[in-house]
Amino acid sequence: MSPDRRITVLISGNGSNLQALIDKAGTPDLPSITIVKVISNRVKAYGRERARNAGISEEYHNLVKYKKDLYPGDEKAAREHYDADLAQMVIRDKPDLVVCAGWMHILAPTFLLPLEQAQIPVINLHPALPGKFNGSHAIHRAYEAFQKGEIQETGIMVHYVIKEVDEGTPIKVEKISMIKDEPEENLENRIHQAEWKLIVEGTRMALDRLQKQ
Ligand code: GRF
Repeated sequence: MSPDRRITVLISGNGSNLQALIDKAGTPDLPSITIVKVISNRVKAYGRERARNAGISEEYHNLVKYKKDLYPGDEKAAREHYDADLAQMVIRDKPDLVVCAGWMHILAPTFLLPLEQAQIPVINLHPALPGKFNGSHAIHRAYEAFQKGEIQETGIMVHYVIKEVDEGTPIKVEKISMIKDEPEENLENRIHQAEWKLIVEGTRMALDRLQKQ
């Protein structure tokens, strides 16, 4: 019986995608997996409570300390040091994979390079099609583009994380239809429902690829 694959999940908010991973961990959809750590960059993220309720070790990585105490007035240095420390926090737990499930910070090379050296892939869930609406508020931007007739569909993807935001190689992409006169919140709900499935599939695919290496 081979040991469970170990994942660390990075969150910033509600944690509904973390919850999808928790609910499917150990089922045929996501077999032989242990969520070894949840790290949040928001002290009040509800996802922290979801982790605690599931008996998963969770930590708050506090950026304010870096910005106010260590690097007042130098946001770039604060973020680089913060991300370097985040990398060490992650590597210490020896995960096989890091899953960004609503981690609302751009991960700097000071995080990505140590993870690459430790051969720990990082994947991210993003609510848009490859190259379409990189960055934040992707659902709203897609909705607006649809209203203007610029797009006919949108989508979601799980992709590898590189330093260019949301530009890494997709692992799994799913198209989402757009419906004329549909309220934005209805589109958002359909997208979130689809995300909860895709994050499990994408995580499993990333882990299965590791086994084959
Ligand atoms: C998801 O829509 C994800 O695609 C985006 O942030 C949201 C996180 O939602 N990056 P939750 O915190 O997992 O509920």
